[in-house]
Amino acid sequence: MDKKSDKYKLLFVCLGNICRSPAAEGVMLRLIDERNLADRISVDSAGTYGGHAGSLPDNRMRIHARRRGYELTHRSRRITGDDFVNFDLIVGMDAGNVYSLREMAASPEEARKIVPMGQFIRQFPHYDHVPDPYYEGSEGFELVLDLLEDACEALLDYILKNDFFTK
Ligand code: 4NP
Repeated sequence: MDKKSDKYKLLFVCLGNICRSPAAEGVMLRLIDERNLADRISVDSAGTYGGHAGSLPDNRMRIHARRRGYELTHRSRRITGDDFVNFDLIVGMDAGNVYSLREMAASPEEARKIVPMGQFIRQFPHYDHVPDPYYEGSEGFELVLDLLEDACEALLDYILKNDFFTK
């Protein structure tokens, strides 16, 4: 829990921080807004690879997200060691992201903050992760949004049910 703001701080992480994790951020921000939780939960995203740092999300991701009403304005950034201190929960989009995050964690306490997004996918039993759409066509981007809309609902329920705000 962030002592300064007392908000629960959630970080989504993928590889480039231009497709999946900024989309997850946009999807979760809308849910938080709809449930009037903006004063209790904050959301950010980052990538394990910094090659796109400073860029807006990939145009294809922005176009597909916009069709569902999400404006993605995040600027890509690489995850830092401080993120493991500052955030309460760090959500990796696929097994590779989770592996990289576990490699970066400086202590068991930091490693305990890492969870795979696949854990929260409910409606798509054939998916245990959010697949990288970068080299895919339109279907890949639509699939990412379908999985994220599903998983973000379950993730938010998990955060609320586990009553993290009182810890
Ligand atoms: P993301 O997608 O991890 O969902 O942002 C990718 C973005 C860029 C690259 C790979 C995946 N890339 O190789 O540059």
